[in-house]
Amino acid sequence: MAFPDGFLWGGALAANQAEGAWKEGKKGWSVCDVATYKPHTDVKDYKAHNAISSEAIHKAMQDTDDTYYPKRRGIDFYHRYKEDLELFAEMGFKVLRISIAWTRLYPTGEEKEPNAEGIAFYENLFREMERLHIKPLVTLSHYEMPLHLSLKYNGWTDRCVVEMFVRFCRTCYEHFGKYVKYWLTFNEVDSIIRHPFTTAGIIPDLCGEKGVTFCCYQALQHQFVAAAIATKMCHEMIPGSQMGCMLTKLTTYPRTCMPEDVAATQKKNLENMFYSDVMVFGEYPRMILRDLEKRGIRIAMEPGDLEIIKEGTVDFLSFSYYQSCTESVDPDAERTPGNTILGVKNPYLEANAWGWQIDPVGLRISLIELYDRYKKPLFIVENGVGSNNDVVEEDGSIHDPYRIEYFRSHFVEMEKAIDEGVELMGYTSWAPIDLISASTNQMSKRYGFIYVDQDDLGNGTLERRRKDSFFWYKKVIATNGADLD
Ligand code: BG6
Repeated sequence: MAFPDGFLWGGALAANQAEGAWKEGKKGWSVCDVATYKPHTDVKDYKAHNAISSEAIHKAMQDTDDTYYPKRRGIDFYHRYKEDLELFAEMGFKVLRISIAWTRLYPTGEEKEPNAEGIAFYENLFREMERLHIKPLVTLSHYEMPLHLSLKYNGWTDRCVVEMFVRFCRTCYEHFGKYVKYWLTFNEVDSIIRHPFTTAGIIPDLCGEKGVTFCCYQALQHQFVAAAIATKMCHEMIPGSQMGCMLTKLTTYPRTCMPEDVAATQKKNLENMFYSDVMVFGEYPRMILRDLEKRGIRIAMEPGDLEIIKEGTVDFLSFSYYQSCTESVDPDAERTPGNTILGVKNPYLEANAWGWQIDPVGLRISLIELYDRYKKPLFIVENGVGSNNDVVEEDGSIHDPYRIEYFRSHFVEMEKAIDEGVELMGYTSWAPIDLISASTNQMSKRYGFIYVDQDDLGNGTLERRRKDSFFWYKKVIATNGADLD
């Protein structure tokens, strides 16, 4: 049997897409609370869905009708977490990845003391997980920074945010360290370049002459420093804790074997792994520094920053994997969207309705590439397929063979990679329960083993229902991956 004993099977979700209750417990405004559902925008146009401006933010803040702000309501995990955890336990989850909303603990980010109600919520959540023998894997920042810091400082572009984030992390370790052993700092740390506002609170019209690209790299440097401080502090405050970095693994293939295509592909792959290079090796790759220099991007670093980054390296590498990408130097090569990227179409792969190309073998390739490069244990913390095919039958059942086939084919490749020697700690599906989509703010982009009765505009009872895949995943976990049929 390929999967090792103690393999951490489970699922992953994020506060901003699940919790809802955006005004409860003295929570402050988060960047996700102004994310707008745009029903008349092509779902493949991720850029239009993610467009943001100061004007749009202020308009959203004055809007008292929440209909078009689905992340404000999520799937009401805030009130229903006990029921949801019972369902995860029924599937046999060993681990659940959640995130902690910064704004529940520090409503604006600038407070000196944390909000007791926010702490109480997460403490109750962790206690319940402990009762059900589900280990938490916690992301400290998953697309939910305080909106106040975004508006006042243009998010992570300002160095002062480092200190505020570190204060938030210290509070998390102090209060939740007894429950949580596995931590991640920034979700998809590389995504700052693709959606600067969601990831780092950067508002393009506040970037001025410096430009958005410069602001992204400056903010990224601040996140690297903050992540390194948070990692070191985690090790000091929580004995036996393990910290990971989290990368969107966008493994890219050359469209042809033409050397120019191969070279362009190599560049893409190096760019993708630059983020984990910094967090695993503790230093910027020389070629990335050279590239930034050539592009005239001069990041400000404070004395000691590089030492901090060197001292705060991670224990394991986690990543999301939804698809592979293809690269070509041919400007006429057909393009297709993916996980907030636009790439060249791969004629050998099928895609979902959002254009994300499904490639289980690419997961094996990614696992082997990452393990070979970093020689650190790996953790797949997101993998899944968004679908709009789920139908509730008259008897209440939901047949989702497409989802089962997606997971089955990916698990087969994981098994092969493990068999080849890759050290894989665990797997958390995205998402075990239907929730709000990060990129398009849709409810109808469904990922879960559990169906949630809610539509894109928030209509529905929020009732939870087990899909066929629920029973299939339960069997996979019970047999530690031996029975994938
Ligand atoms: C990942 C994010 O990139 O993709 C998740 O970390 C997100 O937050 C997931 O939900 C799937 O993307 P989407 O846009 O389909 O929700």
